Amino acid sequence: MPIKACVFDAYGTLFDVAAAAREAAAEPGREALAACWQKLAGDWRLKQLQYTWLRAVADAHTDFWEVTQNGLDWALEANGLQGDAELRARLLALYFELSAYPEVPKMLAQLKAAGFATAILSNGEPKMLAGAVESAGVSDVLDDVLSVQDVGVFKPHASVYQMVNTRFGTASDEVLFVSSNGWDAAHASGFGFTTVWVNRAGEPMDRLPWTPAHVLSDLTTIPDLAGAA
Ligand code: LAC
Repeated sequence: MPIKACVFDAYGTLFDVAAAAREAAAEPGREALAACWQKLAGDWRLKQLQYTWLRAVADAHTDFWEVTQNGLDWALEANGLQGDAELRARLLALYFELSAYPEVPKMLAQLKAAGFATAILSNGEPKMLAGAVESAGVSDVLDDVLSVQDVGVFKPHASVYQMVNTRFGTASDEVLFVSSNGWDAAHASGFGFTTVWVNRAGEPMDRLPWTPAHVLSDLTTIPDLAGAA
């Protein structure tokens, strides 16, 4: 079936999750962070995701802003920065307004001009997502921002992916789902979406029962792929 809706993961896919630590590290007086910001960003992201998976299997849902703070607190302590309350507040403020990858606004505008429905499908808490969408200036080229908050469980629970078909009246194979998280793209394939894994870092393929249909290194060619899929 031709693609009707192009749906994007938010964090790591449209928005650069390393940007908060990178931008804070470049500020004056942040020598301690500058020495470890890449490791801190990686620790923060990994713990944030682990906490979503653990909460999903333990049926202990909370909002993504809380697990984002929990992951940051673990990462700050792991990197010897746990005493710096001002730094913690600064990193969270930057996370709330994460930068989009440079190709994002044009890519979404091309999809809208070609007549596709466009949306975000994210673990993100709605106010966080609104902050990032606003600061990236892409609200006009998104038809909707779908948050797991409405189903009360994190990805990759199937009820999250089902939100797309419920919203747009699509069959699963009419949805092109794009994620930089290999596990998210894999589980979305298992759900029945046509999937793209945006593998910016050149990581190995996740060993899961499903694989993404397409692998790209950035988002530039998504409009071509959506038209041809
Ligand atoms: C999201 C996370 C998984 O936006 O990146 O859902």
